[in-house]
Amino acid sequence: MGQRTPIAVVGTGYWGKNLVRTFYQLGHLKSCCDLDTNRLQELKQQYPGIVTSDRYEEILQDDEIQGVVLVVPAKDHFRLARQALEAGKDLYIEKPMALNTRDAEELLQRANRKGRILMVGHLLLYHPAVQKMKHLIDTGDLGELYYLYGQRVNFGLLRRDENAMWSLAPHDLSILTYLFQEEPVSVSARGSCYIQRNTGTEDVIFLNIRFADQKMANFQLSWLDPHKIRKTTIVGSKKMIVFDDMEATEKIRIYDKGVETPNYIPRYESYGEALTLHTGDVYIPRIKMVEPLKTECEHFIDCIQTRRTPRSDGLNGLMVVRILEAAQTSLDRRGEPVPVTGALSEVCR
Ligand SMILES: NC(=O)c1ccc[n+]([C@@H]2O[C@H](COP(=O)([O-])OP(=O)(O)OC[C@H]3O[C@@H](n4cnc5c(N)ncnc54)[C@H](O)[C@@H]3O)[C@@H](O)[C@H]2O)c1
Repeated sequence: MGQRTPIAVVGTGYWGKNLVRTFYQLGHLKSCCDLDTNRLQELKQQYPGIVTSDRYEEILQDDEIQGVVLVVPAKDHFRLARQALEAGKDLYIEKPMALNTRDAEELLQRANRKGRILMVGHLLLYHPAVQKMKHLIDTGDLGELYYLYGQRVNFGLLRRDENAMWSLAPHDLSILTYLFQEEPVSVSARGSCYIQRNTGTEDVIFLNIRFADQKMANFQLSWLDPHKIRKTTIVGSKKMIVFDDMEATEKIRIYDKGVETPNYIPRYESYGEALTLHTGDVYIPRIKMVEPLKTECEHFIDCIQTRRTPRSDGLNGLMVVRILEAAQTSLDRRGEPVPVTGALSEVCR
């Protein structure tokens, strides 16, 4: 193990306990903070030597702590994140980075002003299969990118504070923006509340995203579905990729399928007749599986130590929040297309 970078994990519930375990195993966990003192007692027994506190201020006042890892409910992200940045801590914040664009922009600007690392927990950007897809796109193997669609559906886990889109779509939107490297122009979303009708919390959502060129993306998000599906399909002009995260080992399939357009079309043939549908092999690349969470935590430590910009930086986090905010407006307006506005470059000034 290299140099120790003392980390505090704040929020040790359903997801936070995984970050506690990982930072502990990596040898960087100093403190855990939670409002639930029983949980802190359990953690103290499970991870000897760690410091626990139910007071966030104590974490911020501890000069030894370099990085704060926020794994609290999304409604508390902005408030606690702002405090951590003000206290001069490098910050890892779970997805979604904030609940609206204004707050996400403020965090990004604050982190830039203070020279702090701001990393968003977009876990799938640390998945080896997503890295493989990125490589195939960047090397031009797929040809021109046409469209992408994803399904993230399951029976559970229901949340009260946020709908299925805010809970599940950050994963897909972070992949989309990372792979396409482009900001969408408009979003339209339709959804329904079947279980939590009294609070108007949508359980099932269909999201459609348009880009300035012909590119588009579509996502199905639900926690009320008989299947557990976590799948992304990308169609390019030369090849197509399917990433199925429910597959144990064969996570990616590359389909050598594309439409070849001839340079010259004889006069006696129609355009349609002259096109050739190319159907080649299906290729399953060997992907060395490493736990994405471990890679993600190592990346945060590396960014703190080297002052490198994280792969899932504040800009990536902001872009996802922008799309979610526009999508929520569209949901509220029963699917009306809503523009995704604002140039990201202006936020970084
Ligand atoms: N990356 C992923 O795959 C993934 C998966 C699940 C959840 N998440 C994210 O993780 C975050 C937490 O979700 P969860 O399901 O673990 O929620 P949870 O309710 O199970 O846990 C939240 C914990 O935060 C604690 N907490 C709340 N306010 C606090 C404060 N001011 N100071 C200290 N502790 C405080 C609560 O006591 C609780 O233990 C959310 O942002 C969620 O979106 C990410």
